[in-house]
Amino acid sequence: MLSFTFSHPTELVFGIDSVNQVGELTKNLGKKVLLHYGKASIKKSGLYDVVIKSLTEAGLEVVELGGVQANPIFSLVQEGIELCKSEQIEVVLAVGGGSVMDSAKAIAAGVYVEKDYWSYFMKRGDVQKALPIGVVSTLPATGSETSPSSVITNTEVQHKRSINSKQILPKFAIVDPSYHTTLPAYQTACGISDILSHLIERYFTHTTHVDFTDRLLEASFQTLLINGPLVMMNPQDLNARSEIAFASLVAHNGLLGSGREEDWASHRIEHELSNYYDIAHGAGLAIIMPHWMRYVYKENPARFEQFARRVFKIDLAFDRQEETVLAGIDAYEQFLQDLLLPTTLTEAGILDDRFEEMADNSFVDRGHTVGNFKKLNKADVMNIFRLSK
Ligand code: NZQ
Ligand code: ZN
Repeated sequence: MLSFTFSHPTELVFGIDSVNQVGELTKNLGKKVLLHYGKASIKKSGLYDVVIKSLTEAGLEVVELGGVQANPIFSLVQEGIELCKSEQIEVVLAVGGGSVMDSAKAIAAGVYVEKDYWSYFMKRGDVQKALPIGVVSTLPATGSETSPSSVITNTEVQHKRSINSKQILPKFAIVDPSYHTTLPAYQTACGISDILSHLIERYFTHTTHVDFTDRLLEASFQTLLINGPLVMMNPQDLNARSEIAFASLVAHNGLLGSGREEDWASHRIEHELSNYYDIAHGAGLAIIMPHWMRYVYKENPARFEQFARRVFKIDLAFDRQEETVLAGIDAYEQFLQDLLLPTTLTEAGILDDRFEEMADNSFVDRGHTVGNFKKLNKADVMNIFRLSK
């Protein structure tokens, strides 16, 4: 196990009706709030009205900025920053999915950046300060509620990149699973794929003696394998929704990667897919992840065998390691297919071949390899795109 430091300052407020606390929690952070949200979902579900009522009852002054799109864009972030400055906003409140939360985080930090904010996303500047952020999460997927990241697409330069800083960790995160029941099946499935991917990025490591986090990761996998099908069959199943929501937070709050080297190649490869094409992050990961697995398993077959045996209960004889490994990967891919997710680019309607351009783009300003389980160069990234066809 590696040495590590873990701390987490976000107050997590979880459960049915927890959203009623949003006014009081926000009030602790400031009097004038930027309410940031997406397109139509929170108005349709009635969540918008509940939030406005709670904020008003707490005596807060509210300025609104809606319209965040899936895979959020930098131009709206810039608009939000200007609004915060002109309205002298004291706290930013995100109500929505990962895209809304990420956009809110980027706005909160951008208020304190004098010039060339995009260079921070290209790792040429460190976030030093941000307005306090609160979130009401409507989609269990990204873990943005308790992650120090904000992933934004700059359509002018066609880059999807992140800032990462403790400064943008939300002060509080409200997760009320009753508002997850309005999610379309496709978004629910994309969320499950993203959560599983956050576990996988941590599970496949060369760090040894990480039994404790292995077991926590395996318990998290099991929770999703059991509760994923339950919510797909019955979207109103609040018990299953709650299990998935809790798992989504722990999957990406940093705890499960503590003491071990993590990978993250698949995320970086996927971010080029959702940068170039109109595809949900979780769907892009459903395509990339099984192909990444088949491409890299020979680096450490024993770890893949462990995944197959413990997570998917593949029970072949011990002298049939490679068959076991491949059966485990197939079982993972089949699970994604059972969620009705695409597992090839063709199934996702991506028929052209911009693999070289995407691979080049992913390395701009970032060295020559990606990932740790197998260090992938540009040719490897292109091979994974080709295998994903
Ligand atoms: O815009 P609205 O109308 O709100 O609709 C959204 C959107 O169309 C809808 N939705 C959300 N909650 C709903 C709902 N519809 C009905 N009922 C609800 N309760 O779902 C659609 C997708 O929402 P979005 O926020 O885009 O999805 P997600 O949460 O998957 O976020 C994806 C973004 O997060 C980034 C991804 O790259 C992508 O840009 N990530 C952020 C991370 C982080 N900050 O730590 C880590 C992740 O790995 C990821 O990269
Ligand atoms: Zn992700």
